[in-house]
Amino acid sequence: MTSATSGNREGSNADAAAYQRFVSAARGFWSNDLFAALRRQVGPHEQERNAQAFEALVGRHPTYRIFAWLERHLQRMRYSGPFGLVEGVNRDREALLDALSQPLPKGVLRLDPDLSPPSYYGEYDIHQHPGGLGGDALAGLVYRDAIRSGVVGKPALHRRFAQLVTARRAPTRILDLGCGFGRSTRAFAEAAPSAHVVGVDLSASCLTVAAHDTPAILHERVSYAQADAAASGLPHASFDLVTSTMLLHEMPEPAVRALIEETGRLVAEGGMVAHLDFLPPRDPLLRILFEGHARRNNEPFLLEHSRIDLADAYSRAGFSQVEALDFAEEDGALDPELPRWRLPWKMIVATRRGGHG
Ligand SMILES: C[S@@+](CC[C@H](N)C(=O)[O-])C[C@H]1O[C@@H](n2cnc3c(N)ncnc32)[C@H](O)[C@@H]1O
Repeated sequence: MTSATSGNREGSNADAAAYQRFVSAARGFWSNDLFAALRRQVGPHEQERNAQAFEALVGRHPTYRIFAWLERHLQRMRYSGPFGLVEGVNRDREALLDALSQPLPKGVLRLDPDLSPPSYYGEYDIHQHPGGLGGDALAGLVYRDAIRSGVVGKPALHRRFAQLVTARRAPTRILDLGCGFGRSTRAFAEAAPSAHVVGVDLSASCLTVAAHDTPAILHERVSYAQADAAASGLPHASFDLVTSTMLLHEMPEPAVRALIEETGRLVAEGGMVAHLDFLPPRDPLLRILFEGHARRNNEPFLLEHSRIDLADAYSRAGFSQVEALDFAEEDGALDPELPRWRLPWKMIVATRRGGHG
């Protein structure tokens, strides 16, 4: 590479970093100031109207329209265009591919080149990520960059979830479904320091990033495998905790039902399932914003698992004590007067009864 080319690349990277900082700042304005203004302007008395009239009122409201426009287009700016995250990894493509192809200790990563992903996977540019997570070899890095720049999730979220779950029952064999680039998997490995943890995902690219990001001290007990969470092929009753973070809402209803069945097969008697995901909020304005988020963020299945009677589905799969609990991603997050927009996090937990077939 000539010094002129490398100078251009550094210049572009600096411009891209400034652009991404602008996007983050604009998102801060959107989720805090604009949300608070909208809340104020369509006050509680308006919410007393019937649901359809209220939805129509919000839909016409100028502040809502700006809110919706910014949500859609700031997310697009994050990923696409000359300073978007996809182009960012492309500028360093060769070096990044080289880093990801470095050898890993035996057993840390198992990819399955013959796996055919379910048809819904890859049909949408999920999160407005061009090509999604299933295609390009650098897609996992793009996703990791998106998280670092604050698209979803507070830094403590995974740690808080893992600590809450492992405080209920100390697991020794954990399966993390839809593990992405491994942050949920590593949080469980840290919260249960003697457990073996397997992370499963469809995305070879995410799994490769996960394996490389896993510190050597965890290599003995953390590994990653490419598989469909709804048909993992893993041994019967081989885990005492099956968990997922932000997976259910990325699957259509029949796939979530299959995943629940698969979980019943995988969890040993007395073991536990724990999902961290979203369920629609009761508050009428927050519900409209959540449903709009599904459209604006390209989340076609966001509402599907909330249509399932989870207590019934888990009971059929051999679980009891099914609970859906509010989850605070940070202190104070459940305050009904919270002056910022947030995703409606829920922790869904259940215990495996005896009687595996
Ligand atoms: C929103 S990400 C969450 C990743 C990770 N759990 C975290 O908290 O950062 C959802 C992940 O689920 C994966 N996924 C979607 N459908 C899947 C399926 N049927 N089987 C396994 N993984 C799946 C995606 O590839 C993606 O990595």
